[in-house]
This record gives sequence, structure tokens and C-alpha cells, in this order.
Amino acid sequence: MARRQQRRLEPVRLGRSGQLTTYRTAWQQALYGPDGFYRRERPAAHFRTSVHASELFARAIAQLARQVGTDQVTDIGAGSGELGRVLRTEGLQVLDIELDDHLPDRLNGLVVANEWLDNIPCELAEWDEDGVPHYLTADLTPGDVVEGNDLEWLRKWWPGEPGDRAEIGVTRDEAWAAVVARIDHGTAVAIDYGHIADDRPPYGTLTGFRAGRECEPVLDGSCDITAHVALDSLGGEVHTQREMLTQLGVSAQRPPLALASTNSAAYLAALSAAGEAAELLDPSGLGSFGWVVSHLAQDA
Ligand SMILES: C[S@@+](CC[C@H](N)C(=O)[O-])C[C@H]1O[C@@H](n2cnc3c(N)ncnc32)[C@H](O)[C@@H]1O
Repeated sequence: MARRQQRRLEPVRLGRSGQLTTYRTAWQQALYGPDGFYRRERPAAHFRTSVHASELFARAIAQLARQVGTDQVTDIGAGSGELGRVLRTEGLQVLDIELDDHLPDRLNGLVVANEWLDNIPCELAEWDEDGVPHYLTADLTPGDVVEGNDLEWLRKWWPGEPGDRAEIGVTRDEAWAAVVARIDHGTAVAIDYGHIADDRPPYGTLTGFRAGRECEPVLDGSCDITAHVALDSLGGEVHTQREMLTQLGVSAQRPPLALASTNSAAYLAALSAAGEAAELLDPSGLGSFGWVVSHLAQDA
């Protein structure tokens, strides 16, 4: 079979006025434009999410669905649908939403978005020596002064000092608010790399992934481009993945050695599950992801 040719896009740098576009515009084009990364690539080929790490993750989501009393799950930014495949074996009805799918006007039950928001392009800002934030352009040089909602957002959620960089969360907040607003009765959970006010990274977190490795975030469609999510500005309770999965019954405890001599197959299976659980719970890895949880029960 012929190897797939790796196509590179010409990076979008200039807007209609001939000026450099903002980083967000170029990022949007690089991921979701006609030949963008997500139009051609399968997420699992480039990076590993909790869904890929272990089926225990999906089984914990199924347990959460049972806890909140629903058998319906919507998976937003479903990638290749790996989460839904396991959830269906647990007797749940699953709606996978991917690019270009119509998001229903009303959603109920459990709505999950695992590593979706970090892929929603956002504006980048850098503070000049006078402490004024500027948008960064497609080539990461400072452009116009940040204004409007973006400026308000920075003031409220991510104030900076000269030389600092930030990722302005307005587009992520809006994307998540559009999901939550569709839920009359249900629970929404956004799961992502993230930070909260006490812990913002002073130079931001923009990065790329290609073929399983972190790389320079090049705006030519050849790699994923991602930045951590300001979890607290989304609204909802913020928990770590470690806390949530532990509460949902995921445990990295190794099986008792005695089991090895009485039932070696069961011992090996339990040992393997404990290893997978340890990866999902790792406080310096997937376990540090944030789960932003909203329970919604609006009167009609
Ligand atoms: C990082 S991948 C995560 C895939 C999967 N949730 C997982 O955990 O493995 C992000 C996914 O979000 C999808 N996506 C991005 N914007 C979207 C949108 N507006 N609507 C639906 N899916 C979107 C991308 O196509 C991509 O498959």
C-alpha cells in the first residue's frame, strides 16, 4: 500500500488587510481548515489520552453515568469514538460528536468532553514592558493591544506582568457555555490539561504533538496544536482526575500475591489493571488533569 504523503499547508499568516493574522486565526486554519490537521489525522496516531491509556477510564465514565442516574452519554470531540465503544458495552446509549456533526439543541444525561477544549484555538497575549497586553500574531510577534472581552477576561482570570504570556480563555469558555446551555437535566464534564488562578504558567503552555512526540507548534497542519485550559473560568466544580477516578472506584492497588498461586490468570489480569489505573491516577501525569463538573436541573 502506498504510504500516505504528509501534506504541509502553507501557514496562514496574512489577513485580508495584508497584516499578520492573530495566532488564533492561524491556529484555527492549521487544525480545522480544509486541509487542517484534524481533517486528515486520527488523534490516537499522535498522542495518548486517558481514553487510549485504559478502558478503565471509560468504565469510570459509565459508573459516573450510573451515579447521576442516566443511560445517555454525549461525547463531544469524540475522536475515533473509542470512549463510546466501551460505554456501549456497558449498556449506555452514546452520541459521538465530531467536527461538522450537528450538536443537538438539547442535551440531557451525561455530557463528556475529554481533551476537547485544549484544542479550541484561542488568542495568545504577551505583556509589553509597560504592562500592556498585546495579541500575538501568527509568527508569535506582538500585534494589536488586547481589548474588549479578551481584556476583561485577562483582568479577571489571568493578570500578567511585563514579559508574561497568556492564553486567553474566552473561546474555550464560550464553547463550553454553548454545551452547558443545551442541558436541561444532566451533568456536564470537561476533562483536560489545565490550571487555575493560583497556578497559571507565566509563559503559557502552547505546544504541538506529532506522531506521539511533543514538538514545536508549527502552523502548517502537520501537528496537533494545544494549550492547557483555564479550568476555573469555565464555571463548575474543579476536581483532579485522580480525585474523580478514585471516587468512581479506580484503584491502583496491586492484587494480593497469594492470588498468583491460586489463580495466576486472575492475578495477571488484576496486576495489569493496577498498572493501567496507576497511569490514569498518576499525580504528575493524567491524574493531574482537571475535571470541571456541572450538575444541571433547569425548570422548563
Ligand atoms: C484531542 S482530540 C480528543 C479525542 C478524544 N476525546 C480522546 O479523548 O481521545 C480532540 C477532538 O476534538 C475534535 N473537535 C475539535 N473541535 C470540535 C468541534 N467544534 N466539534 C466536535 N469535535 C471537535 C477534534 O476533531 C478531535 O478529534
